[in-house]
Amino acid sequence: MNKNVFIMDHPLIQHKLSILRDEKTGSKQFRELISEIAMLMCYESTRDLPLVEVETKTPLAVAKTKVLSGRKMAFVPILRAGLGMVDGVLSLIPAARVGHIGMYRDPETHQPVDYYCKLPSDLNERDVFVLDPMLATGGSAIDAVTRIKEFNPKRIKFMCIIAAPEGIEAFSKVHPDVPIYCAGLDDHLNEHCYIVPGLGDAGDRIFGTK
Ligand code: PRP
Ligand code: URA
Repeated sequence: MNKNVFIMDHPLIQHKLSILRDEKTGSKQFRELISEIAMLMCYESTRDLPLVEVETKTPLAVAKTKVLSGRKMAFVPILRAGLGMVDGVLSLIPAARVGHIGMYRDPETHQPVDYYCKLPSDLNERDVFVLDPMLATGGSAIDAVTRIKEFNPKRIKFMCIIAAPEGIEAFSKVHPDVPIYCAGLDDHLNEHCYIVPGLGDAGDRIFGTK
C-alpha cells in the first residue's frame, strides 16, 4: 500500500459511509452525512498539528497546557461536490480561510475543465486541505493541487471520501509530496470513469440535480 495514503477506518466514519453509499439515501441525509464524515476526517487528519505549551490559570492553580502553535489553515473545496465538505471541516477549525476551485469533468473525455479559482492571497503562510468527495481518475485533484502549488502553501493535504486505485496512482505520481486521506478505497473505475462500487455522482446527490 502507498505510504502516502491514509484510510480513515474509524467506526463512525465507516458506518456513515455505508449509509452514504446506499442508493436509497436522499439528498438531505446525503448532505448531512458528507458534512459529518468530513468533520470526522478533519479530526483524524489534523493529529500532526504542532502544539506549544502555555500556562493557564485555573480557579485553583496554574496548569501547564497545550494550544495549537499558531498554524494558519485554508480549506479549498473543488466545486461543486467539495462544497458539501466545507461546513463539517469549518465546524472544527472555524478560523480557517476558504478558497474555491471550480472544475468539472468533460462527459466525453473525462478530462477536468477548470472554470473558477479564488484562493486566499496569503496561501504561502497556510496549510491547505483540498476537499473533494471523489478521487476517480485523479484528473481534477491533480489539476487543483497543481494550481494551489503556484501559491507556495506550507503544506497540502488532499481529503476525499472515496478513492479509486487508478486515481491514487495517478495523483501520487504527479504529487508524491501530498498525502491522500480517504474513508473508502474502492475497486475500480467503470467505462464512464465512475468509481465502483462508489456512491454515484456526488455532486448530483448533494444538490439533487440529475
Ligand atoms: C466529480 C468529483 C470530482 C471529480 C472526480 O466532479 O466531485 O471533482 O468528479 O473525478 P476525476 O478524479 O476523474 O477527475 P464532477 O466533474 O462530476 O463535477 P461536479 O462536482 O460539479 O458535479
Ligand atoms: N465523480 C463522481 O461524482 N462520482 C464518481 O464515481 C466519479 C466521479
